[in-house]
Amino acid sequence: MSAAAVDVVAVEDADGFWEDTDALRACLTEPVPRIPPWFGYDERGSELFEAITELPTYYLTRVEWDLLRRHGAEIAEQLGCGRVAELGSGSAKKTRLLLGECASRRATTYLPVDVSREMLEASAAALRDDVPELAVTGLWGRYEAALDHLHDDGGAPLAVMFLGGNLGNTTPQERDALLARIAATLRPGDAFLVSADLLKPTETFETCYNDPPGHSAFAEFRLNHLAHLTRRFGGDADLSAFVPHARFDERAGVVEGHLWAVRDEVLSLPGLGVTRELRRGDGVNVGFSAKFDRDRFVADVAAHGMTFESEWSDPHWRYGIFLFRR
Ligand SMILES: C[S@@+](CC[C@H](N)C(=O)[O-])C[C@H]1O[C@@H](n2cnc3c(N)ncnc32)[C@H](O)[C@@H]1O
Repeated sequence: MSAAAVDVVAVEDADGFWEDTDALRACLTEPVPRIPPWFGYDERGSELFEAITELPTYYLTRVEWDLLRRHGAEIAEQLGCGRVAELGSGSAKKTRLLLGECASRRATTYLPVDVSREMLEASAAALRDDVPELAVTGLWGRYEAALDHLHDDGGAPLAVMFLGGNLGNTTPQERDALLARIAATLRPGDAFLVSADLLKPTETFETCYNDPPGHSAFAEFRLNHLAHLTRRFGGDADLSAFVPHARFDERAGVVEGHLWAVRDEVLSLPGLGVTRELRRGDGVNVGFSAKFDRDRFVADVAAHGMTFESEWSDPHWRYGIFLFRR
C-alpha cells in the first residue's frame, strides 16, 4: 500500500515548525546551549533513533515491548476508549500490540502525533496491514498543537498515550506545562497512559545511553542535531570538533546527552542570528531524559487532576506503564 494514501493532518502550519526560530534561538542562547528534542527528529534523526532502539544495551524499548506483550489485553480493556492518541509515536511498532487489542474490543481510531511526517506515513501504512480494522489519522506537528487539535472535538472517549519514556524528554517546567495541557484536553472519564523509566544506578543509565563498542547510532543521532541545524540555517559547525557522550546527573535525576567540544569552536548560525563561542570542554545539550521516583511521578501526574488507576511494571528494570483517569 502506498504511504501517500495515508491520512495525515498537519496540526501546525505545514512544516513551518522546523523553522521555529524563536524556540530554537531561546534554547541555543541558554547558559549551556541546547537543541530541543523535537528538532532532532528530521528524517535522518528518526532513522537513527530506530537504530538506537536496536542497540543491545538500550533496554527501554525491549522492556516496554515486553510489558505491552504481556499486559496489552488488560491495558486495552481498562483504557476503554474509542480514540487513542499517541504523543511521539515514532514507528509505533510497540504500540501495535496494544492497538490490536483495542481494535478487537471496540471501534478504535488511532491518532499518532509526531514531528516526523515520514514516520507517521510509514507507521500508519504498516498498521493498516497489521490491524486492518483500526482507523488511523496521523497528526503531524508538535504535542501542543496536536493537543489543541484534539481539545473538545466532541469525538468518542479519548486516551492520550505517552510511551517510550518520552515524557522524560522535557525539562521540569516543560513537563508541568505539558501535563497541564494534556489534562485540559481530556474530558472526565478520558484516560492518560504514560510510561516512566524509574531511578536506578548511574552505570545502568550511562551504559544504556552511550554506544556499546562497535556501534555508532547514539553518536550519529546526537551529531545529526547539529548537522540538521546547519542544513536549515546555514553557517558552519565542524562536527569533528565535537564528541557525543551522555552522563547521568544524579542530583537532577536526568540523563543528558551532550556534544562536547574537543577544541575551541565558534558555532555560527546566521539564519538564526546565533553565534556561540565554545571553549574546549564546553557542551551543547542534545538530549534530556528524566528518570523518576515512582511515588513522586504518580503524585506529580495526579496533581494535574488525574486519578491514578493502575500500573504495569518490570521490577528488574524498574520501568512502569501507568494509567490515569481524568
Ligand atoms: C524517543 S522517540 C520515541 C518513539 C516511540 N514512542 C518509541 O517509544 O519508540 C520520540 C518520538 O517523539 C517525536 N517527538 C519528539 N518531540 C516531539 C514533539 N515535541 N512533538 C511531536 N513529536 C515529537 C519524535 O519525532 C520521535 O518519533
